[in-house]
Amino acid sequence: MTVTRTAIIAGNWKMNYGPAQAARFATEILPGLQELLSGYAQVTSILCPPAISLPAVRTALDTTPTTQIELGAQNIYYEEKGAYTGEIAASMVRELCSSVILGHSERRTLFHETDDLVNRKTLTALAHGLQPIVCVGETLAEYEIGREVITKQIQTSLANLTPEQARNIVIAYEPVWAIGTGRAATAEGAGAVTGLIRQLYGEMYGTDTAATLRILYGGSVTSTNIGEFIDHPEIDGALVGGASIKPDFVEIVRKTIETMQQS
Ligand code: PGA
Repeated sequence: MTVTRTAIIAGNWKMNYGPAQAARFATEILPGLQELLSGYAQVTSILCPPAISLPAVRTALDTTPTTQIELGAQNIYYEEKGAYTGEIAASMVRELCSSVILGHSERRTLFHETDDLVNRKTLTALAHGLQPIVCVGETLAEYEIGREVITKQIQTSLANLTPEQARNIVIAYEPVWAIGTGRAATAEGAGAVTGLIRQLYGEMYGTDTAATLRILYGGSVTSTNIGEFIDHPEIDGALVGGASIKPDFVEIVRKTIETMQQS
């Protein structure tokens, strides 16, 4: 973390917890999150349940008096409305959420999302006032041959933003091999790539904008390793998968705050 930026701890619930379970889990973790966050303004938490559970979690959040816990979706489509069976428009998500995860590696791999598609979705999200959390990340083989994949992902997924839009982006760097494997990257390794991402973003939108960009690390983050990532000057929080659907999520937020207070 760098003190001039605020941290984000986002929870990507993936395809876990339908409305009833989501409401129960939200009710379980919200008091702890609220207590931690209300005492420390430098961290925001974003809960991203499955689309069908967004109303249930919205209801739970509306009864929790804090502005530092937000709701995010896991995907949108870029069209405004119409014959797109199974898809959800940005305007619909915006009724309940302030953020949306885009271009997650599971969507890129399993649902064939390209950088161009992620870019269209990013522009649509921004046009509707949603903060995109744009995910990038490479496989181990791609990592070992250099930085081409990350460079193309950033340059294409985040192309054509206005200067104002460029300031409303969050990026999540998630090495594919670290997602859901229990094998997190090292803070040093992740920090080197997030540093590169900031540099690339600076080339696209100016160094001042890049200096305010929040870049999260994602991939097997737990309450045990979050401190190392938060300690790195180039890493501004985490996108948490598996640990975000457990009470450990509250501990991750606690460790984040403790680490920031110590630095
Ligand atoms: P993980 O997932 O924390 O379970 O590795 C992270 C993600 O996919 O966003």
